[in-house]
Amino acid sequence: MNNDIERILYSQEEIATACERLGKEITNDYQDKTPVVVSVLSGAVFITTDVLRQMDVYTQLAFIDVSSYNGGTASSGKVRLVTDITQDVADRDVLIIEDIVDTGRTLKYIIDLLKQRHAKSVRVCTLLDKPTGRVLEVKADYVGFEVPDEFVVGYGLDYKGEYRNLPYVGVLKPKIYLDK
Ligand code: PRP
Ligand code: MN
Ligand code: MG
Repeated sequence: MNNDIERILYSQEEIATACERLGKEITNDYQDKTPVVVSVLSGAVFITTDVLRQMDVYTQLAFIDVSSYNGGTASSGKVRLVTDITQDVADRDVLIIEDIVDTGRTLKYIIDLLKQRHAKSVRVCTLLDKPTGRVLEVKADYVGFEVPDEFVVGYGLDYKGEYRNLPYVGVLKPKIYLDK
């Protein structure tokens, strides 16, 4: 285990099992559809590739880059659109894939954007849901784990751009972000 991690919340195996379940649920619901899968950079890269490969449906893959934590432990309160998707989503079923829904600001921003562009339907799949962090009312349709109110990293989630490549999700030792 990485030395900066206090404890592992979800192991590599548990995450794999969750991704399999999410893929099956999504497959059931999108049988006769070809959704545009919108993966939210950078955190959602890992869950996107893992869930997508468990989905037995035709899809198109798109990436949107939005950021609001700027590498820190708290939301700046402002969602910044860094790179937009290039696909036209008008009249399309859209599935957003996220690593975590915390305050809900990022998700709300993207859902509003897609609705403005007349997406036919918008649903959300997230590995982690932190309901205690919610500032804006948004709900994910497919959730891997409900996560406690702690700052977590790994499997896409970062602190200052680091720890994304840990194969598990863990609680970062507070001294790491209190010292620096
Ligand atoms: C993180 C995370 C989600 C979002 C969730 O992204 O990956 O996208 O914040 O938080 P919220 O519900 O409070 O909006 P971040 O802004 O850190 O960008 P990153 O994915 O590039 O790390
Ligand atoms: Mn993100
Ligand atoms: Mg981040």
